[in-house]
Amino acid sequence: MEYKENPIICNCMQVSLVDIETALHEHEKLSSVEEEFQHVQERTHCSTGCGGCHDKIMDIISQMMSGHLS
Ligand code: FES
Repeated sequence: MEYKENPIICNCMQVSLVDIETALHEHEKLSSVEEEFQHVQERTHCSTGCGGCHDKIMDIISQMMSGHLS
């Protein structure tokens, strides 16, 4: 996955890639993808609408955690 700008990942809640990144970076050490998802969701309210972005967000978090996206 490659991002050139700052796309909106969750349309319902207007949560952008940078919003997700920022929420993730509040943790010094990332734990599991599921836990980070919960944290990001609490902060940004992403994926609380239609839920259609859930997989996309999980994907982004796991990529960030494995260092493929910074
Ligand atoms: S697009 Fe994220 S909840 Fe609908």
